[in-house]
Amino acid sequence: MSDDEKKAPASGLRKGLTSYGDAGFSLFLRKAFIKAAGFSDDALDRPIIGITNTFSDFNPCHGNVPRLIEAVKRGVMLAGGLPMEFPTISIHESFSNPTSMFLRNLMAMETEEMVRAQPMDAVVMIGGCDKTVPAQLMAAASADIPAIQLITGPMLVGHHKGEVLGACTDCRRLWAQHRAGEIDEAEIEAVSERLAPTQGTCMVMGTASTMGCLVEGMGIALSGTGTIPATHADRIRSAEASGRQAVALAKAGTRPTQILGKAAFHNAMVVLQAIGGSTNAVVHLAAIAGRLGFDFDLEELDRLGRDVPVLIDLKPSGAHYMEHFHWAGGMPALLRELRNHLILEAPTVDGVTLGEVITRAEDVPGQNIIRTRDNPLKSGGATAVLRGNLAPDGAIIKQSAASPELLRHTGRAVVFDSVEDMTNRIDDPDLDVRADDILVLRNAGPKGAPGMPEAGYLPIPRKLARQGVKDMVRISDARMSGTAFGTIVLHIAPEAAVGGPLGLVRDGDTISLDVETRRLDLDVAEDELARRRADFAPPPHMAGPQRGYRGLYLAEVNQAGKGCDFDFLRKDGEI
Ligand code: FES
Ligand code: MG
Repeated sequence: MSDDEKKAPASGLRKGLTSYGDAGFSLFLRKAFIKAAGFSDDALDRPIIGITNTFSDFNPCHGNVPRLIEAVKRGVMLAGGLPMEFPTISIHESFSNPTSMFLRNLMAMETEEMVRAQPMDAVVMIGGCDKTVPAQLMAAASADIPAIQLITGPMLVGHHKGEVLGACTDCRRLWAQHRAGEIDEAEIEAVSERLAPTQGTCMVMGTASTMGCLVEGMGIALSGTGTIPATHADRIRSAEASGRQAVALAKAGTRPTQILGKAAFHNAMVVLQAIGGSTNAVVHLAAIAGRLGFDFDLEELDRLGRDVPVLIDLKPSGAHYMEHFHWAGGMPALLRELRNHLILEAPTVDGVTLGEVITRAEDVPGQNIIRTRDNPLKSGGATAVLRGNLAPDGAIIKQSAASPELLRHTGRAVVFDSVEDMTNRIDDPDLDVRADDILVLRNAGPKGAPGMPEAGYLPIPRKLARQGVKDMVRISDARMSGTAFGTIVLHIAPEAAVGGPLGLVRDGDTISLDVETRRLDLDVAEDELARRRADFAPPPHMAGPQRGYRGLYLAEVNQAGKGCDFDFLRKDGEI
């Protein structure tokens, strides 16, 4: 190395040299090995852009990743960089035991460390299925090298008997009809081939679509790329553009911490409310904020929810699907409608402010998917934050997907002590349950299950479903799929397994939910609660030493309000 090279900030192959005590030797070895793959000096002597490869046969939501990688590489090379693809963990919702949430932090840690360890001047993170984008954003926030998010994109809609189907809002609805005896075995089998007809992510406003919208709103993905269907040529072009832009970010040295400031989180909350977004995004945003050294402000989310209407008419809050949102103008058009709520000076990876992104929004005459502020889908926002003696550290409800008549409700508690207990008893014909009761599920939080499963959408007990009951108030310390519908209180914190008051509820107690006043309360005298508290014991799986990742998870995972991250991964000095 010349003296000049020694003084220049390390980039390309010189970045993060493995320590052999002799920098020149380290670079020589690195070159010798990479040349084994046939690279020339010319190829190696330029900005290196890492590309995460999250393709997996177990992850059909990422089925288009190979083509996206090819296009990112093309974009990187057109802009004069060298693309280097590398594998990371891939997580699919349906193939992750015990839960995908359990694995999200593992993916975040792995991605962060591989981005940090390998020499790259910027990284294009390709994710899509629910937990992958949050894991990548957590990684990017911590590794803090120039980064751009590229999502795989939503799948196209399915069709069955003349009806349009959406994964997975209709998965649940049709399964409920099957449970109620309205759809037979043969038909439900046919439905299983039609619900998810293409590669890509669930095309209702579930967690994957929500994160696709949020990454645009936060400025960490190129504008216009969050909603393009997975199968479309524009999706491939968005990958090429992301590759090109990654080179520009590398040259400018624009880091995630410069993009993901408090303004980005404010804008994310506005978008989340306006799209009727998944409740899971609240947990993920909290985790990303923790990586940046601040707490996600649940009160601000709630406040914005009173101001920001739901404008996007997509299932499960509305009627349509992601491809329709895309052709109606996508996120730039929505952001333009929301401009009075947004911090328009926020920077984006496009290299312009969010306000400038909005000026590019397309007008689509006659579209009815992106509503105007004067004609919203729902006048209040999607998500409300509840407090009360049952949820001292908060709980949330997606009111846009709830039954209006149940938003203020008092009822008798019917308690299930675990997911297993619920599974065993919910359909018991002798279960003492009425339509106006409140179903309670506990020990389904971050530590309790473990992995905070999407069990908060408790099924309607079969005997009530057969009587035509479609919705009941259901409360838990679990999460719920962003695609589900119902009057469902989630993320109750602290969770029952760490001694939260949800663990003190007994069958027959009276519980009151009042979304207008943001309250969730248990009507039991304090001295009786104190007596019950003395009997508290954590669930059996938490007793005794644990090994491996599961042991790390049980010891370190924090509560929903902090994002279910590991405390030691929060930004230095903020633990
Ligand atoms: Fe992957 Fe729904 S299962 S996005
Ligand atoms: Mg989901």
